[in-house]
Amino acid sequence: MSAIFQPYTLKGVTLRNRIAVPPMCQYSAINGYTTDWHQTHYGSIARGGAGLVIVEATAVSPEGRITPGCTGLWEDGQVQGMAAVAQAIKAAGAVPGIQIGHAGRKASANRPWDGDDHIPSDQPDGWDTIAPSAIAFGSNLPKVPQAMTIADIQRVKADFVSAAKRALDAGFEWLELHFAHGYLAQSFFSREANQRTDEYGGDAAGRGRFLLETLRAVREVWPENLPLTARFGVIEFDGRDEQTLAESIELVRQFKASGLDMLNVSMGFSTQKADVPWGAGFLVPYAAQVAQQAAIPVATGWCIDDPKLANQAISDGSLELVMIGRAHLANPHYPLQIAQALGEEQPTAVLPEQYAYWLARYHGAATSTAQ
Ligand SMILES: Cc1cc2nc3c(=O)[nH]c(=O)nc-3n(C[C@H](O)[C@H](O)[C@H](O)COP(=O)(O)O)c2cc1C
Repeated sequence: MSAIFQPYTLKGVTLRNRIAVPPMCQYSAINGYTTDWHQTHYGSIARGGAGLVIVEATAVSPEGRITPGCTGLWEDGQVQGMAAVAQAIKAAGAVPGIQIGHAGRKASANRPWDGDDHIPSDQPDGWDTIAPSAIAFGSNLPKVPQAMTIADIQRVKADFVSAAKRALDAGFEWLELHFAHGYLAQSFFSREANQRTDEYGGDAAGRGRFLLETLRAVREVWPENLPLTARFGVIEFDGRDEQTLAESIELVRQFKASGLDMLNVSMGFSTQKADVPWGAGFLVPYAAQVAQQAAIPVATGWCIDDPKLANQAISDGSLELVMIGRAHLANPHYPLQIAQALGEEQPTAVLPEQYAYWLARYHGAATSTAQ
C-alpha cells in the first residue's frame, strides 16, 4: 500500500490514511452559527475518503471573525450545530478536527466574493478590530486596529480556552490553533505588525509569548489523549527568511515542550512585502526542516495535491500528513483519484460501500460481479 494510504496514529486518535482536508472557510454562518451548508459540505468531504477533516477557522469571539459569515464557538448555543458537523464527519469515517482562531486586524472583512475588503465599523456588518499594535495591514484591509491592552490579551486567551472546551463538547477529536496567515496570533509574532514595548513585543521571545501562553492555557483543558496542533507561519518570504525561520523553529521547540503534538507548517502572510515562491510542494522542505530541528511531527499544505508528490512527501519522511484543500472542493472523492493515480489495488477502500461496489464494477476491479 502506498505510504499516503497508511493509517496514522497521534495520541489516542487514528486516521485511516495520511490525507487531511485543511480548514477552509465557507463564509456561510449566521452570527457564528453553522447552517445546513456546513453539515452537507463537511459530510460530503469526509465521505470522500480523507483521514482527517478540519473544520474552518472558527472564531473565539465575535470580533475575531474574518467575515460576518464565519463560524464561531464563543457561546454555548453554537455547540449544537458544530456537534452535528463533527458527527457528520465521524459517521463518514474521518476524524473530526476544528481550527479555532482570532482574525485580529484582518477581521471585519467582506466575504471574498463580496470584495474581500474591510467593512467600515460604522456599517451594520462591520466592527472595530484589535491587534498587538495600532498598525493596519494595508491595501484592501486599511482599518487601523486598536492596540490590545494586557486585559484584552488575557480576555482573548480565555476566549481560546472557552472555545476549545466547546469544541470538545461538540465532539471534535483534533484541535488546531490558528497561529498563521497574519491573523491575531501570527501578527503578535510578526516583527512588522508587533511594535509593542511590553513583555508581549520586542525580541522573538516577547513576540512569541501570546502564542505560547495561549497554547499552554488550551492544553490544560484539551484532553491529553487528543491531538493539539497549531497552524503557524514559519516564514514570510519577505527577504528576512533565515532569521524568521530560525526564530520560528525556536518557538516551535517551546510549543512542543508545552504540549503541542503536531505543527501544520504554513506561511506568515503578515506583510505586504511577501514574494511567495508558489509552486508544487514548495513548503515541504521548510516543513521537513521544522520537523527535524524541532523534533515534532509535521503536516503541510499549499499546492501539494499531485498524487505522486503527496505520496513522496510521506514516504520520504518529510511529512506525516498532507493537507489537500481546493482539490477536495472540486472533487470530495479526490482520495480515490489519488489511489487510482498511484495504482492502488483496492482504490475503492476510500469509498463508502454505497458507492464502492458500483465504482469497483465500472473500473473493472470486481470483474466477478459482471452479470
Ligand atoms: C475557500 C478557502 C478557505 C480557506 N480558509 C482557511 C481557513 O479557515 N484556515 C486556514 O488556515 N486556511 C484556510 N485556507 C487555506 C487552505 O487551508 C489551504 O492551505 C489552501 O487552500 C492551499 O491548499 P491547496 O493548494 O491544497 O488548496 C482556505 C483556502 C480556501 C481555498
